[in-house]
Amino acid sequence: MTIEALPTFTQLPHPHATDAAKRAELLTNPGFGRLFTDHMVTIKYHVDKGWYEPQVEPYGPITLDPAASVLHYAQEIFEGMKAYRYDDGGVGLFRPEANARRFNASAKRMSMPQLPVDLFMESIKQLVSVDKDWVPTQAEASLYLRPFMFATEAFLGVRPAKEFLYTLIASPAGAYFASGPKPVTIWVSREYTRAAPGGTGTAKCGGNYAASLAAQAEAIENGCDQVVFLDAVERKYVDELGGMNLFFVYENDQVIYTPKLGTILPGITRDAIISLAGEAGWEVREVDYSLDRWREDANSGALTEVFACGTAAVITPVGTVREADGDFTISKAQAGKLTMQLRQTLLDLQHGRAEDRHGWVQRLL
Ligand code: PLP
Ligand code: COI
Repeated sequence: MTIEALPTFTQLPHPHATDAAKRAELLTNPGFGRLFTDHMVTIKYHVDKGWYEPQVEPYGPITLDPAASVLHYAQEIFEGMKAYRYDDGGVGLFRPEANARRFNASAKRMSMPQLPVDLFMESIKQLVSVDKDWVPTQAEASLYLRPFMFATEAFLGVRPAKEFLYTLIASPAGAYFASGPKPVTIWVSREYTRAAPGGTGTAKCGGNYAASLAAQAEAIENGCDQVVFLDAVERKYVDELGGMNLFFVYENDQVIYTPKLGTILPGITRDAIISLAGEAGWEVREVDYSLDRWREDANSGALTEVFACGTAAVITPVGTVREADGDFTISKAQAGKLTMQLRQTLLDLQHGRAEDRHGWVQRLL
């Protein structure tokens, strides 16, 4: 979707922006999701006016009416993407239009307005330009971008709101898992599911993440890093982790399996890996992959590698799977060869170090 002419963004520079020395100190160990840049973008929406008043403004609290419908009925969606620092000092994005399209797919599912792709892209460009000095320079670090939209209309009736706010914030990020790309241990959630057919699993809406927290807490109580959800109907097939998609590698057969789309989030990293692995000579099959098969093939050694992927986590090897009645491991819980190769290929593309044959890389600065 395009619009005729992009509206001009009002620029409201931060009157007390972080100074260079303080920023450098903060950027030495950004962690994930706890540090924010000086600015944010907001764009308002009213059903009678469309999108209006786009502006770049100082990062800060948002005032909401207590009756704002997001606070009651959770009309909220978001995206997760990154701006990467290049070796020459430049900055670029990876498949940002895919995020824009997924944002609109989520909006549609949640009865929210479509944000023109051009306007989404312009918001990203505006924020990254004004806060470019916040893009970290360390290897594997990046500026995590979080576009989101929520219902601001003060109304308690249950129907789609008429007013929304689109907001974009940016957060310098180091590695998502504190342990780096070391194999993680994941907990199989038997009690909770993430998404049922016809539900909201394919949308990136806040409610999905709220619903995943009890399962993630159970994972942590059991000494695991992440939770893996099974399908909601048969409780047999692997869906995905709380914030990542999964791949199962059979080296002897040169085949990789990944859960098919339907109730899972259609990951952009997942999609890139399907292409990259295919080009590297692997057959990639999108299937219903059962937990029983996972356990059997891990135990027999037929399954050689498992990895999880997503924007925040990039590619992370899965070493151990924990169930209430015991553990099983994949290849002695060592990070696999293909896992680490694909990880490097992806990072090289994202950081502008590899030839971009797919048109995935968009340099901004
Ligand atoms: N699955 C879920 C539930 C997620 O939240 C994410 C992260 O956005 C992913 C998968 C991976 O998607 P992507 O590769 O687009 O970041
Ligand atoms: C991402 O990978 O971007 C995510 O959104 C995952 C999580 C931080 C919600």
